[in-house]
Amino acid sequence: MGFVVAFVNPSHYGANMLYDLLKPLIYTLDAERAHRLAIRAAALAPGGAIPRVRPVTIAGLEFPNPVGLAAGLDKDGEAIDGLMGLGFGSVEIGSLTPRPQAGNSKPRLFRLVEDRAVVNRMGFNNGGIDAALERVAKAKRPGVLGINVGANKDSDDRVADYALGVAKVAPHADYVTINVSSPNTPGLRDLQSRPALDELLRAASAARQACAERGVPRTPLFLKVAPDLDRDGIAGVVGAAVDAGLDALIVGNTTISRPDTLRSSLAKEAGGLSGRPLAVLARAKLAEALEIADGALPVIAVGGIDSPEEALARLDAGAAMVQIYSALVFEGPGLVRRILNAL
Ligand code: FNR
Repeated sequence: MGFVVAFVNPSHYGANMLYDLLKPLIYTLDAERAHRLAIRAAALAPGGAIPRVRPVTIAGLEFPNPVGLAAGLDKDGEAIDGLMGLGFGSVEIGSLTPRPQAGNSKPRLFRLVEDRAVVNRMGFNNGGIDAALERVAKAKRPGVLGINVGANKDSDDRVADYALGVAKVAPHADYVTINVSSPNTPGLRDLQSRPALDELLRAASAARQACAERGVPRTPLFLKVAPDLDRDGIAGVVGAAVDAGLDALIVGNTTISRPDTLRSSLAKEAGGLSGRPLAVLARAKLAEALEIADGALPVIAVGGIDSPEEALARLDAGAAMVQIYSALVFEGPGLVRRILNAL
């Protein structure tokens, strides 16, 4: 959304200086237009080696460092290598649905500058799994590539959409994320409750197993949940994930809640809130998930991480790794290396 021209400069400190200079100009653009520009710039950016800093192994998969790009920025896999060039140990593309879909009507992406937050109701706009896989095939992928899958809005069998998604992407991904936590597809979050979640995860596991029988190495499966689940809800998703043999939990997505501290008038826009004001909730849900999982399942922390201190705090709390998205808009692309330097 924001870091546009900065991507093209291979010197990331220089890039962030340039970003700081251009920020006022970028902020005059409509948020979605700025986002498109950022992806285009990132697609032109040089790739390069990924810094090996505090490497972590999750589900047998080695991540060169514990800082990943969260899903939703590069939904269609247009800039995988350029984004890895910022230093991210992993990039998660998607959410991708079996069929392409346009998403909600615009405007649907809002920058809450005073709050260092974003509200979005994109609604899984994406070009579909097949088109993204063509781009994945061309990427060099020096880091770990996650592919995040969702269901089409008009699907009459959402479980089948996820199973098809896993079947299609597992052979091409380092890990696959099942996203049942977008607030912008009506009814999607209902899939987080049992027994619906059990059925969904069984189907996803079976799809992965079918790939393994064709000789594809077992691809780790992660589950991404909403920070709006209460303690029982978190216990439910942890139980279902462990029972189904999933490999990690991602906590979590955007929130439909609106903390009283928000100052921007755009806070009233419908959609999911992300960025700094999400940190308090995301920290609390990370702690609950870690306590309930009790080591049975690694937990990846996402939500409002916008500084080296916050990234370190989540790792120290027990997160297997962290992912970031919204803070790139406000801090610029140099944030990734700032965090890596602090590690
Ligand atoms: C997202 N996020 C997201 N998550 C996901 O699993 N699939 C998706 O398609 C998207 N799309 C998306 C679009 C936009 C514009 C935003 C801001 C976010 C959620 C994202 O991956 C992350 O979980 C949250 O944004 C919280 O992290 P941050 O942004 O506070 O670091």
